[in-house]
Amino acid sequence: MTQRLTIRRPDDWHLHLRDGLMLAGVLPETARHFARAIIMPNLVPPVVTGAAAAAYRDRILAALPEGMEFRPLMTLYLTEETDPDDVAAAHQSGLVTAVKLYPAGATTNSASGVTDFDKVRPVLERMAEIGLPLCIHGEVTMPEVDIFDREKVFIETVLDPLRQRTPGLKVTLEHVTTADGIDYVAGEAGDIAGTITAHHLMIDRNHILVGGIKPHYYCLPVAKRRRHRDALRRAAISGNPRFFLGTDSAPHSDEAKESACGCAGCFTATNTMACLAHVFEEEGALDRLEGFASLHGPARYGLPPNAGTITLVKEDAPVPYPDKIATGAGPVTVFDPGHPLYWRVA
Ligand code: DOR
Ligand code: ZN
Repeated sequence: MTQRLTIRRPDDWHLHLRDGLMLAGVLPETARHFARAIIMPNLVPPVVTGAAAAAYRDRILAALPEGMEFRPLMTLYLTEETDPDDVAAAHQSGLVTAVKLYPAGATTNSASGVTDFDKVRPVLERMAEIGLPLCIHGEVTMPEVDIFDREKVFIETVLDPLRQRTPGLKVTLEHVTTADGIDYVAGEAGDIAGTITAHHLMIDRNHILVGGIKPHYYCLPVAKRRRHRDALRRAAISGNPRFFLGTDSAPHSDEAKESACGCAGCFTATNTMACLAHVFEEEGALDRLEGFASLHGPARYGLPPNAGTITLVKEDAPVPYPDKIATGAGPVTVFDPGHPLYWRVA
């Protein structure tokens, strides 16, 4: 029996679109289903100033195929040299929706990120004043901290002290991957939310390592034990408006992924909504999918939900999703949940 579910058109509150040929190849995959997305600024060189964000927004809009509608919500990449006045002006003009904090060295193209958090205090204080949210990649980078503990240690040693020092700062802890992260976001009285990816709701660390190393499951923060995945699922289906979708869809060419030093990132834009419908159905929570994908994010960012809708259809037979999409920057492998998907967007 065919099942159908109509929900408000979703948004993606954490997306990598890259630039140039890669941008042109991946943008339609997102714009087909999502009305808006928070665009990550970790280009080379990073999007540091309002002027660079405006130019990047124009390149995204120029790459959008005729007839597709999509609104990129721009971010600025926080560095120790970021000028609070430039940030405030970019916010005031409506150009930027958030500022992104990468601890230096935490992930792809994060070399210009923050090492000394005291140096960015004036920017954070200004952001708290003007109500501009800070999106955080929450991992420490010290070599002595095990990669599976880096989110938990970040929350304890960086995030919580930073929030104490900057009352009123709106924070989004992005791509939460641990029960510790979920508990922190849910348990805090202050202004903090968390995004969750589709792939972290599906995979655990065994997917990466058991039966041969699978580079297309490698992303940062790296997937953790099954119990953490289950905590993410409980948060996603909880109806708690502090949790919502940020896919972290992060395209790299197959050549860059399938390498002795493969890049971090799962490319999920093509089948995110099918994966989410699968997970929410498995959890008996299809009625909560709209909140997670389409309502909590806009509420958090002070935007109206999208006027349009999408309809998810569950087929009797598996839906054939492409293994790869072709881009001018090379083939990009689409996230494989490891089992058939029966849902598609009509
Ligand atoms: O897996 C990831 N890929 N995590 C990030 O934080 C960055 C992203 C990328 O840009 O490829
Ligand atoms: Zn990301």
